[in-house]
Amino acid sequence: MLLQLIYLVASVTFIIGLKFLGNPATARKGNLIAAFGMTIAIFGTIFLYTDVDGNHLKNLPFIFGGLVVGTVVGWFAAKKVQMTAMPEMVSLFNGMGGACAMLISVIEFQHIQHNPAAASSLGHLIIIILGMIIGSISFSGSIVAWGKLSGNFKDHSFGMQQVINIGLLLVILVLGYMAASTQEPLWFYLVLSLALLYGVLFVMPIGGADMPVVISLLNSFTGVAAAFGGFLYDNKVMLVGGILVGSAGTLLTIVMCNAMNRSLLNVLIGNFGGGAAASGEARSVTGSVKEVSTSDAAILMKYAKKVVIVPGYGLAVAQAQHVVHELEHLLESEGVVVKYAIHPVAGRMPGHMNVLLAESNVSYDKLVEMEEINPEFTTTDVVLVVGANDVVNPAAKTDPASPIYGMPILDVENAQHVIVNKRSMKAGYAGIENELFFRPKTSMLFGDAKKALTDLVSEIKSLG
Ligand code: TAP
Repeated sequence: MLLQLIYLVASVTFIIGLKFLGNPATARKGNLIAAFGMTIAIFGTIFLYTDVDGNHLKNLPFIFGGLVVGTVVGWFAAKKVQMTAMPEMVSLFNGMGGACAMLISVIEFQHIQHNPAAASSLGHLIIIILGMIIGSISFSGSIVAWGKLSGNFKDHSFGMQQVINIGLLLVILVLGYMAASTQEPLWFYLVLSLALLYGVLFVMPIGGADMPVVISLLNSFTGVAAAFGGFLYDNKVMLVGGILVGSAGTLLTIVMCNAMNRSLLNVLIGNFGGGAAASGEARSVTGSVKEVSTSDAAILMKYAKKVVIVPGYGLAVAQAQHVVHELEHLLESEGVVVKYAIHPVAGRMPGHMNVLLAESNVSYDKLVEMEEINPEFTTTDVVLVVGANDVVNPAAKTDPASPIYGMPILDVENAQHVIVNKRSMKAGYAGIENELFFRPKTSMLFGDAKKALTDLVSEIKSLG
């Protein structure tokens, strides 16, 4: 009874935690609340769980040994990780969740094998095998995703990859059913091996920068596999936790795809754009590019009433979050209103810009979402785009042949002046030219973001 109450409290903390995670101001608290719920669920299970014969959990030294090792490794990994390496870490941790789900199924299958008394219904076996298949795919897929993001593995694709993958999935499902109906270990371990192989083949060809979408999808797989574990053990908190992770991961995948105006299938098949929109030739961009000197940019910004900063992937690469915050402070001390325009897929992972700017203590109320900031650009004197490209490309609205056509973008061209900081005229993630850079109101401030902003700060200071 007490354990059920603990599970109920833990489930509620997961839901409250998720709600709090929806806002940068409350995200830390949300994490702590959910972690508290998980802690009481774990200790409640260890000390209060009893099986049908009234026995408590055995193997306590192993359980506590695992807890200590996991806590120490997790703590140090999270402390050490660079913000730009966060998707890698999430991927690796997610893989561990998949591996747990896989091992639970292996143990349960062996349990049935060794205890004829535990003879099970077909439904029960199907749940064991589905948990094993999904957990295995999530495990090997996440490890490949981690390897690709950390630069250890390259993208690999071969002819007929999609056909082979679909064929392999069908074979896994058929053999999985045979394993459930015959309880033959041979089929079971064959399915496990094929599911591990499928995870590798599924993730290997996907473009490195699409990995966050895939990681989110694999994350939802792990949640579903954990929910199957909850069914197996009739454990309510595992079921609730699994369902929450599964549905949150699925929603995040959908949100990311929508924000890039791409279907999930298109991400998985692996090229940017898609459908009718990408079938034509994108309009070629002509015109001349205007450069601005640091001193002219400094004057424009110092005497502006309102400046909006658009952070992008290049800001993260340059680690310019601290100096951008310094620039914001300096301008505010000159009486300028400063805000940040946050595009939902700026950078390379969900919330990348929020997390990066939070690291340098930028106040959350200065981070304005795309829908809210877009109407404000008409009353903005200067927009400073720092290492962003696709998220400010007007072709998304004007060129039906562009691969990013239909992706919602920040309407920076409505401001009086647009200053774009990047190192060259090279394309961004989508690999296309940006006509914004050729527009009369735009001027380019070339250079590494950290250096360019540091110079800008010194120049504004020197203006007195
Ligand atoms: P991008 O379009 O990738 O543009 C980044 C720009 O930063 C590049 O054009 C690059 O130009 C510049 N840059 C790189 N290093 C720099 C440095 N050290 N200093 C200054 N500039 C630097 O980035 P974005 O506008 O943030 O758009 C994000 C893209 O990623 C979108 O296409 C989105 O769909 C995709 N994506 C996002 C996510 C999530 S969830 N955020 C997930 C998957 C894909 P130079 O080389 O000329 O400097």
